[in-house]
Amino acid sequence: MTLTLIAAMDRQNGIGFKNTIPWMGKVPSDMRWFKQATMGHPVVMGRNTFDAMGGRALSDRTNYVLTRQSEHAIERVFTAKALEDVLDLYKETDEEVFVIGGAQVYKEALPLADKLFITIVDGVFEADTYFPRWNDAEWVIAEERYVPQSDTDKFALRFLTLKRKTA
Ligand SMILES: NC(=O)c1ccc[n+]([C@@H]2O[C@H](COP(=O)([O-])OP(=O)(O)OC[C@H]3O[C@@H](n4cnc5c(N)ncnc54)[C@H](OP(=O)(O)O)[C@@H]3O)[C@@H](O)[C@H]2O)c1
Repeated sequence: MTLTLIAAMDRQNGIGFKNTIPWMGKVPSDMRWFKQATMGHPVVMGRNTFDAMGGRALSDRTNYVLTRQSEHAIERVFTAKALEDVLDLYKETDEEVFVIGGAQVYKEALPLADKLFITIVDGVFEADTYFPRWNDAEWVIAEERYVPQSDTDKFALRFLTLKRKTA
């Protein structure tokens, strides 16, 4: 299994505000990237993020929603009470499992992650949730791509792929 965290953040690591994404609808290149990267793979998210997506499962991906509420049945998604319960399902496979947020789940998953797909949205937004700080010494930038601001993307984007250094 490869465990990948995928997140978009502003210049100050902000990822959300009032359970929405601050740049929602303004950077379609990032939405395309997210879809392309995660398509066909299992995705794991916190219950707030699921609610932020309008309570709808992402299509063509197996959706896992983490919640500690005992009777939280949702159509077209699996619920789990712990991140490990989901990861245990895949640990003996070649599958790439994506953690798609939010802040609480990123924080728990970061120490276990093999790869980070980070989009830096080149702006500063009002935020109340942040991606956890990672230790640069533990990661190497494997790929980097820049998309300038345009009529379509209202903010410039920097797409980073970070891989955990192996001993
Ligand atoms: N920019 C991005 O890339 C990005 C991506 C995703 C989300 N976001 C933003 O992030 C914000 C949401 O983040 P958040 O930190 O508030 O919430 P979150 O991590 O999405 O969800 C937190 C909830 O998930 C459940 N949970 C978390 N850890 C768990 C665990 N280990 N075991 C079982 N359940 C667990 C709990 O649900 P219960 O309360 O039901 O027990 C908890 O209240 C929103 O603003 C969203 O738009 C941004």
